[in-house]
Amino acid sequence: HRHLLGIEPLRPEEITTILDLAEKYVDLNRQPVKRSKVLKGLTQINMFFEASTRTQASFEIAGKRLGADVMNMAMQASSIKKGETLIDTALTLNAMHPDLIVMRHPNSGAVNLLAEKVNAAVLNAGDGKHEHPTQALLDALTIRRKKGRLHRLTIAICGDIAHSRVARSNLILLGKMENRVRLIGPPTLMPAKIEEFGVEVYDDMRAGLEGADVVMMLRLQKERMDGGFIPSEREYYHRFGLDAEKLSYAKDDAIVMHPGPMNRGVEIDGVIADDINRSVIQEQVEMGVAVRMAAMDLLARNLRELAGPKEVMV
Ligand code: CP
Repeated sequence: HRHLLGIEPLRPEEITTILDLAEKYVDLNRQPVKRSKVLKGLTQINMFFEASTRTQASFEIAGKRLGADVMNMAMQASSIKKGETLIDTALTLNAMHPDLIVMRHPNSGAVNLLAEKVNAAVLNAGDGKHEHPTQALLDALTIRRKKGRLHRLTIAICGDIAHSRVARSNLILLGKMENRVRLIGPPTLMPAKIEEFGVEVYDDMRAGLEGADVVMMLRLQKERMDGGFIPSEREYYHRFGLDAEKLSYAKDDAIVMHPGPMNRGVEIDGVIADDINRSVIQEQVEMGVAVRMAAMDLLARNLRELAGPKEVMV
């Protein structure tokens, strides 16, 4: 693959290859000196058109640890503000010969459009309600390390499924790896025809969590509810917020995940989020850096193959 635009085009063995390489970067990241040269001489541009803490910071750290020259575009201060289109922005940056472009954008499909216009390898850092592939990969790595496998697990994804690119990328990945995926949430926040993805749908937390190995909580994505029904937080927490009582329906050794940012007291009780025996939220963040290093390393190998063996001496 030239780009990482989504989980959809990846084969199960390609997912395993990325996770296996990410394991090596987990080890590197735990060393006192965290340095590799696999992206030395390459230029990485990060373009975030939506707010981000984890994804932006980890892509920047990942690129720097691999030796790339990393530039974070301040999109609020860019000429997009003066009416320049995404395509013209992409063509402008393309003329500066970047090798890797990481983009987050509020519109589904915007990252695919960018990939058609530039020579760089493009990595999707989240596009609208479509995909967030590196999130699904870091979640998969976390699950594989905690559960010892990434197949034949029962995984409950809970909350606002309809507006969640994290849920979409995860259910595609977990389905490809032959897990049983359950989606739990109010019918108003469930996408139409989602059963076609081979998932089970529940509107009751206790029934959906029964016997689950993994419980993945999602935030209410109010920024994508554009005028539609927004549930009251109090009512939502009562019915769908993860607390100790609802979690007791899952397996005794079930892990609790959240991609962040989380809203304590809305989709999850803060006590559960902080319970180091159940919550793996901080491990997810750690795996995020390693998975992004692995993804950029693999794409850079492809770039080198496309460019041929010659290095240009200046
Ligand atoms: N999980 C995630 O994408 O978090 P950020 O929005 O902070 O990057």
